[in-house]
Amino acid sequence: MLKPSMPQQTEPASDELNSMPPDAEHVMPPELPTQDSALEDSVGQLTRVQSKLVDTLHALQLLSPQLVKDHNRAVRAIQEALTLVGDTDDSEAIGPIDWVKFGERLYQRRTAAGLTQEWLAERVGVTATTIRQLEHHTRRARRSLMLKLLAVPELNLRVSDIELSAEMSAGYRHTPTSWLGPTYDPVGMITQLAETMNAQSGQLEQTLVYIDHQSAKDWMATCSSPEYDGEYRDNVPFATMAQRIAALVGDQALTMTALGCGDGRTEASLVKHLQQKLRMPRQTELFLLDVSHSLLNAANRHCCDTLPDIRTYTIHGSFLDMPKMPMLVNPLRGRARLFAMLGYTLVNLSDELRYFRDTLSCCSPGELFLCDISIALAPSHDRQKILKLDPTGSGKLRPSHATWLSGPIRRYCQGAEDVDIRWELAPSGGVPGSYGFDAIARVKMRDGRPDRRFLMWRFRRYDPKLLSDSLAELGWKTIERIDYGPGGKKSLSLLLLQKQ
Ligand SMILES: C[S@@+](CC[C@H](N)C(=O)[O-])C[C@H]1O[C@@H](n2cnc3c(N)ncnc32)[C@H](O)[C@@H]1O
Repeated sequence: MLKPSMPQQTEPASDELNSMPPDAEHVMPPELPTQDSALEDSVGQLTRVQSKLVDTLHALQLLSPQLVKDHNRAVRAIQEALTLVGDTDDSEAIGPIDWVKFGERLYQRRTAAGLTQEWLAERVGVTATTIRQLEHHTRRARRSLMLKLLAVPELNLRVSDIELSAEMSAGYRHTPTSWLGPTYDPVGMITQLAETMNAQSGQLEQTLVYIDHQSAKDWMATCSSPEYDGEYRDNVPFATMAQRIAALVGDQALTMTALGCGDGRTEASLVKHLQQKLRMPRQTELFLLDVSHSLLNAANRHCCDTLPDIRTYTIHGSFLDMPKMPMLVNPLRGRARLFAMLGYTLVNLSDELRYFRDTLSCCSPGELFLCDISIALAPSHDRQKILKLDPTGSGKLRPSHATWLSGPIRRYCQGAEDVDIRWELAPSGGVPGSYGFDAIARVKMRDGRPDRRFLMWRFRRYDPKLLSDSLAELGWKTIERIDYGPGGKKSLSLLLLQKQ
């Protein structure tokens, strides 16, 4: 598989040879040069055709020759097709490649076939010096030259001769896979948390309940408990949704960004389903974004372990700062983009509509956004009915949630003796048809000091139709909605939105 180019150690540039440029797909300058979009589209399509041919060549070369009627001819036919589709894009290198091994392999194959450097050079349109330098691994080939070499039947070069598995590649090992968001400031966040907990009362922005290591550990304990799995994680209709997403992605490769990835298990499950439906599954790339260093680390490990075929990148930062992250918002060539905010994170935001209207206004038309929400169990205006029909109306938190949410008080509120956390119905307001509950902590203080009260966390339940209407007004159209829930009850909904 030919992958996007990656940063490598550089060699002096020459005509058809060059050093590997940094990953142009992701590290574009904020101001993009204006380009004719039709040309852009065609180049993207050509690249996709080439990638498919290379994938097919690779698959065929790995297949036992006995299984194919005329294996040699089939391989040659694809090599010829690769030559015929040519290459107009000489800017992109391929990788990861062990250039020393490649040079040796090229020399062996050329001499075994009785070819001179001059003959080969003429065949692929370069000078004999270029071939010599490649064989001595003093220069690196650009993408177009690599494709031409692959297409020479006499050389019988296999894709696996030039491309390494990600783990084996020195280039990959040295390729940065992690970013720090421009305003990522864990010390500042802990300071803000401690200041809030040491005032008489206050409310925490939901980001802060994940931020210290113990909070992250307690969140992981609660979200991996059997009750949480049974209630939230086990029933998500990812298979059906993945099919819908794949149909929209079509012939393109997919870049998925997980906003608030937590331990990454939900996201990995979605990507696994997507891999079964996408036309170019191995070209998928995954960006994990989270404000908690500990959770991001856990997610990265989980995704690298369970999705070894796809490239995973991590970003330490806030999804509220997404517009400042060029690798997440700059246009992509030949790729579709999906933002996924899973684990019911959207329902925790204090202003979900402004998140779409303002923060996500950096998204381009056609880009997709997937989120899960909880469904209202009673009319939003009838507070008595909500308290009666909604199980959260009892006020009781599950024990693992209580441990997680009381942690910041026990650790940062000086003089706290005892903490009691209960759900309270939130003030009315928000998206039409929705209501919410707030986790309110009452803190008993030592030495006769007055009790304290803090809003630690919040969530909302929605009428999915009314939420979709509100989002449509802001330019985000719901194109798929699947209601689901434990025990067949439709208490949750998975929404796929598209920027108009
Ligand atoms: C409810 S959890 C969901 C985790 C995960 N997506 C899942 O499905 O289990 C919310 C996640 O969002 C992260 N988060 C909260 N606020 C954030 C922010 N402003 N920027 C980035 N991540 C944030 C938290 O650290 C946490 O990992």
